[in-house]
Formats: sequence, C-alpha cells, structure tokens
Amino acid sequence: MKYIVGIDLGTSALKALLIGSDGTICAESSAAYPLYQEKAGFSEQDPEDWYQALGNVLQAIAQRPESKDIVGISFSGQMHSLVLLDQAGQIVRPAILWNDVRTTAECEQITKALGSRLLEITKNRALEGFTLPKLLWVRNNEPENWKRAVRFLLPKDYLGFRLTGQQQMEQSDAAGTLLLDLAQQQWSSEVLECLDLSASLCPPLVASTEQIGTILPELAAEWGLPEGISVFAGGADNACAALGAGILAEGSAMLSVGTSGVFLTATEHADHDYQGKLHLFAHAASERFYAMGVTLAAGYSLSWFKEQFAKEATYEELLADIGEIAPGAEGLLFAPYIVGERTPYPDSQIRGSFIGIDGRHTRSHFTKAVLEGITFSLRDSMELMKRYADAHFSEIISVGGGAKNEDWLQMQADIFNVPIRTLKSEQGPAVGAAMIAAVGAGLYATFEEAVAKFVVYANTYRPNPETVQKYQRIYMLYQEIYPATCALSHQLRK
Ligand code: XUL
Repeated sequence: MKYIVGIDLGTSALKALLIGSDGTICAESSAAYPLYQEKAGFSEQDPEDWYQALGNVLQAIAQRPESKDIVGISFSGQMHSLVLLDQAGQIVRPAILWNDVRTTAECEQITKALGSRLLEITKNRALEGFTLPKLLWVRNNEPENWKRAVRFLLPKDYLGFRLTGQQQMEQSDAAGTLLLDLAQQQWSSEVLECLDLSASLCPPLVASTEQIGTILPELAAEWGLPEGISVFAGGADNACAALGAGILAEGSAMLSVGTSGVFLTATEHADHDYQGKLHLFAHAASERFYAMGVTLAAGYSLSWFKEQFAKEATYEELLADIGEIAPGAEGLLFAPYIVGERTPYPDSQIRGSFIGIDGRHTRSHFTKAVLEGITFSLRDSMELMKRYADAHFSEIISVGGGAKNEDWLQMQADIFNVPIRTLKSEQGPAVGAAMIAAVGAGLYATFEEAVAKFVVYANTYRPNPETVQKYQRIYMLYQEIYPATCALSHQLRK
C-alpha cells in the first residue's frame, strides 16, 4: 500500500497524520509551539518554531515501517497569518497571526482607498485578521523591516518553501489575503496598485494539488525519510476541514465548534453577493468556493462559563442535565458576543448578555442558554446563506466540541431544522491535507473519490418538529438581542 502524510499547522501545535491510501490512519504525531502576545491585541509566532515542529513530527513518522512507502505530503494551515521574507528567503520579523487585531487603522485605510471595489474583487471586507492590513501595518510602523521585505507567504506555504526551496502561494489560502481577485483566481493588480504595493511581493499562485517539489535530499536524510517524496501545495485550514467533513457541493454544510465556531458551505459560484456579511473563499477543490460565517466565541463561551462558574466540574458533569431543561432554558437567553463578533455582526465592540434571568434559574439553565446562544449565532450564518444565495441544506456535518454531546447535537438539529451528522473518526484539517496529497499523487482522480474513502459518517440527529417550532419562536427573540444591546454595549466599552 502507498501512504501519504497530512500536516496541520495550527495556532497552538503542528499535527501530522500518516494515512494509508485506503484512508486508514496509521500514525499521528504532534508538536506544540509558543504564541507571543507582547501587547494587548498582538499575536505572533516564530516561523522557525513551525519548521522545528515539522522536523520533529516528520522524524517521528519516519520511525514507522510504512514510511518507506510515503508518496506524498501536503499541508493545511492557519489562514491569513503574515510571513515576510527578505531577498535571501530569511524571515524579516515574526509572523503576525490571524487572531492579531492591531490593524484597525489599516482596515480603515483599505476601505477608504478601495470603497466598494474591495468587496467586488476579493468578495470580503477588510477585517483585522486578514493579511493585507498586516502588510500595511508593517509598512506604516516598521519601515526598516518593510525595506528588507521582498515577498510574503502564508504559514503552510512557508513550510512548503522550507521543504522544497520553492516559494509559492496556494489559492484557497491566497483568498484570505484580501489581495486575490476571487473570480479570476489571480492577484488583483487593482488592489495592489491602489495601495501602492509591488506585485513582486506576491508569490506565484498554485492549485492545492499542484506538486511544488520534492523534500530536499538533505532534509530527507536528516529526518530519516526516503528520498524523492512529493510535496503538494495544500489548503487553508477551513478548506481542509471542509474536505475532511466531505463538504464539496451545495446542499451540505459543516458546523465546527472550536474556540471560535464556523458554519461553512461549498458553492460553485464566486458571484454570490453576501454583501460582505459572510466570507467567500476559494475551496481546495478547483473551481469551487466556500462561504463561511464565524462566531468568535463559540467553544470559548462555554469554556469561559465553566471556568468562571463551574471550575470544579468536568464538561460531562456541566452538560449532564441540559437534556432535561426545556428549549429556551425557561426564559433565559444568551448572546455569545463576549469577545466581539464577526458574523452576522462585524462588531469588535459588541459584548454578550444573559437576558431574562429569573430567581428560579439554576446553573443548568445558564449552561443550556449558553449552548443555545452559540447555536443560534451559528444559525445566523445559515440564514445569511439562505437569504443571499437561496441555499438549502439537506444535512449539516457537526465537528469539534459541538459533536461531543448528544443533547447538544439534537439541539443543533432542532435549532437548524436540518439533520445533523457526525464523523466516525474526527482528525480535523490534517485529514483534508492528506486527501490533497492523495489526489495530488494520483491515488484518487477526484476529491469526490477521496471523500468516499476517507470520510466515514457515524450518527444522524433528526429535527423533532415540535421542538423545531419552539426554537423558531425563541430564535426570533434571540435575533432582537443585537439591535437592542448594540448602543448600550458600545457605551459600556467607553
Ligand atoms: C478564518 C480564520 C480562522 C483561521 C484559524 O477566517 O481566521 O479560522 O483560519 O486558523
């Protein structure tokens, strides 16, 4: 049998999976690295740490007998984070990460310079997390570093460069830079010129399954890997997560609860006009795209609540009796905007609320309200897809923290009024990266074929019509929280 390696370069760790061509996972290895938060709102990492982590996990994989039959390796990576290189290919400064929010002034600069053209070309609005504002921040604040910078890469493309010596950027990730003309799949000369940026900063664009080279012989020798392993470009972590959940076509969606929460669907249309309320990025599968909404504090709302009010309990204990509490937590609503929000309200100043607290309410009511609030917020993203793209969903694949509790899964089915399915073995975006390597290496002709082998579903949770009715009424009340609390929230922040 042939084998492939899928790497996920995350924000806290790098994970590698060694997978057989039939989709069986043979080995897993991961290595963590630090996050540097020098000032409030800053979030940086040292790309050298990612590279060291890559070396460590590949050395562990090389110990396995199957490693002599590895035919390809590919990557999933944290999106948007800026890696700047000098003429010699050396790192100019630490990477500025996707969750760094120092760039509000640069976002205003971009919006002012490009107006409605930004959305027309890139299909996204300027948000602090994206790459272009970070480039402008370095130019505005670190002229010495800016003078040395000749190229920018994204995290996983930097690892591809270190493995093969080739600089390039893969298209699903390039879509998150705010410099890509999404429909044309080319760097936008209009955006570059308007902001007086040199086109030579942008690396050549490649497709996810394109072979960018082979592992450099000296690295293969150092790590104990066979010579000549092909390296394929890879994909953005959300695109890879979608592949790993089998989301390739319209009609199905992925609901993912991590620290933040994502609701995502695939589409063949780059021309849906979501008016910037959702992100629209290129999928790893060519000529396909995905629309995505983000709830900033999804899992974080629950972990914050547990940390503050139920520290001694396990998550199982905390969630044990939520199934016994009626939908709507007997009149208690929670809005999960505790670190601001992205979708449907791009508002860094809004904050969360509990509404309707009653003397009868127990901690279990609050827990239930938190889970309902997170789920309502993710439903907001689905409603935008329905409103702006006439989307219909026959199933939603639930992954991450939201797929760990049966009562929460049933709640998702009842709140979305769509059957919810879970995956048998959840390995996250690294599986999508391995699927890219498998298609790139020719083990499968299409992503559909790879999905049929790699993605195995477990349980289905069907909506209960009576509960759906109840949640529909409560969701309408939930939607009134943002307009009712927006001005108050902004005042309180002053
Ligand atoms: C997507 C985003 C995050 C990162 C996390 O827009 O900012 O999901 O990709 O790695």
